[in-house]
Amino acid sequence: MINLKTSYLGIELSNPIIVSSSGLTSDIGSLRRAQENGAGAIVLKSLFQEQIIAETELIQNMDLSGHPEAYDLIENITKDTTLSDYILMIIQAKKELKIPIIGSINCISNGDWVEYAKKIEDAGADALELNLFIPPLFHKTSRELEDLYIDILTKVIDKVSLPISVKIGSYFTNIYQITNRLANAGASGIVLFNRFYNPDININTMKLTYASPLSHSDELPHVLRWIALLSGTVETDFAATTGIHSGSDVIKSILAGASAVEIASVIYRKGFEFIPKMLSDIKNWMVDKKFQELSQFKGILSETELMNSTFERFQYIKALSETANSMKYF
Ligand SMILES: Cc1cc2nc3c(=O)[nH]c(=O)nc-3n(C[C@H](O)[C@H](O)[C@H](O)COP(=O)(O)O)c2cc1C
Repeated sequence: MINLKTSYLGIELSNPIIVSSSGLTSDIGSLRRAQENGAGAIVLKSLFQEQIIAETELIQNMDLSGHPEAYDLIENITKDTTLSDYILMIIQAKKELKIPIIGSINCISNGDWVEYAKKIEDAGADALELNLFIPPLFHKTSRELEDLYIDILTKVIDKVSLPISVKIGSYFTNIYQITNRLANAGASGIVLFNRFYNPDININTMKLTYASPLSHSDELPHVLRWIALLSGTVETDFAATTGIHSGSDVIKSILAGASAVEIASVIYRKGFEFIPKMLSDIKNWMVDKKFQELSQFKGILSETELMNSTFERFQYIKALSETANSMKYF
């Protein structure tokens, strides 16, 4: 009997496939479809700190001369409207659905949004994912920027008793350091790596455009490398995100040491109905390899298990010369 259960952030999931924070998790109908198609959990679309600030600023720019008291009132109403829609969705999701619901806040600095974490907890969310990206600043050192990540996490942890995961990008000089600091500061899980919305250039119109927001499977190896390097070393759970497009990609992530995966692009392309196919592909592989449980193969290809530095090899030259014949690079 094949069992796909996994433990992530101290929560038992029926399987490791989590629908990642995105437009796919922004309304109750989609959340229902995620559950119906067998998702192990859902991370809700992020509540954006910037969005709340922007809405508030818009109102601050309104001409309310003669009614100064209205500024505070409207500012609070704006924050509360954005937040209350979010809270209502969590309450409804918790009432209707059985799978774990993870709230998400996208934050770029400290601020009173930390209060929102408490409201998300009170609404019944099972955990909270902090989607953290502090934009690089010319006048700040890397250490100062990294301190902000820790500061934000610490402030949220002080407010709530929910398990907190932190979703980060890979733009750090020393990922060992930042992930270890986040784990020591109390992160129950770390999600590697957020995929940023990138610009592109149209050479015909010579205008700025945007690159595709959707990933491809060939983006996964970068994530696998870091999950494999960190999972046996940094004491927290890891979830893989970016480039997971098949059951095989989920298996790879678990072999590298992930407890779960967070997927968006593959569902945008193939629909929620593709989740059952991914789950059955994982099961078939497990039957073939004679595994009954994920724990039997989780992390067996992590760096701590392999101890052969393969994942630490970043430069091409050796890899290419070793595999030159099969890869036909020469
Ligand atoms: C349209 C779209 C919207 C997204 N919105 C969010 C968001 O609100 N918060 C967040 O943490 N990640 C967001 N993401 C990132 C996804 O959660 C996911 O981590 C990323 O797309 C990589 O996974 P994938 O390769 O399966 O797409 C979004 C992604 C897409 C494509």
